[in-house]
Amino acid sequence: MKTLLQIRSSIFSSGGQSSQLAERFIAGWRASNPGGRVVVRDLAKDPVPHLDAVRFGAFLAKPEERTPAQQAVVDYSDSLIDELRRADVVVLGLPMYNFGLPSTLKAYFDHVGRAGVTFKYTEKGPVGLLTGKKAYVFAARGGVYAGTPNETQTPFIRTFLSFIGMSDIEFVYAEGLAISEASKEEGIARARAAIDRLVEPELAAA
Ligand SMILES: Cc1cc2nc3c(=O)[nH]c(=O)nc-3n(C[C@H](O)[C@H](O)[C@H](O)COP(=O)(O)O)c2cc1C
Repeated sequence: MKTLLQIRSSIFSSGGQSSQLAERFIAGWRASNPGGRVVVRDLAKDPVPHLDAVRFGAFLAKPEERTPAQQAVVDYSDSLIDELRRADVVVLGLPMYNFGLPSTLKAYFDHVGRAGVTFKYTEKGPVGLLTGKKAYVFAARGGVYAGTPNETQTPFIRTFLSFIGMSDIEFVYAEGLAISEASKEEGIARARAAIDRLVEPELAAA
């Protein structure tokens, strides 16, 4: 039985365009994976705290020397990582806010990017430890950025996910959502068509 982890990062929770595109993909995934399990991590409803020196200090403290408060911070981060580790498929809803990713998603990444847990340094360089997964990213933007020098999200997400071992990533973009009603409709229609192209081969094989 496969597990899909859906990470929502829209401030509008399930109402965000990125969340709705993710839902369309997940409906197809459910159809081709009967019995599959979907776990939702909603960063709007359940935000991860910003990483600060106290929390990072908890990550660095030796296990036998952690205070109860530090242990609670580590347990929380471990639970987020366990959820990610158990997933075969990761679906990320990715809005663009002020030219970057939502701060809630960065806070989440700051709690799952942990030396010795999700990546390690070796003589040959860093090695990601969360391998064997496929990630799908559904990006929603008011403007148009894909393939331009102003595209900051795709390289960042690719770099971060690959760093922790998830290098097999598909991106789907819904762009131009704030330009005009026609542009919004076109952007969403293109993204939906791209999702259907991702889902159809799996449905045919199911
Ligand atoms: C606070 C805020 C900041 C935004 N900043 C940008 C931006 O920098 N560039 C852009 O193209 N669109 C921007 N937008 C538009 C969003 O990218 C667009 O509404 C998209 O649908 C957001 O995804 P969501 O619907 O899943 O939340 C912004 C929207 C909000 C609410």
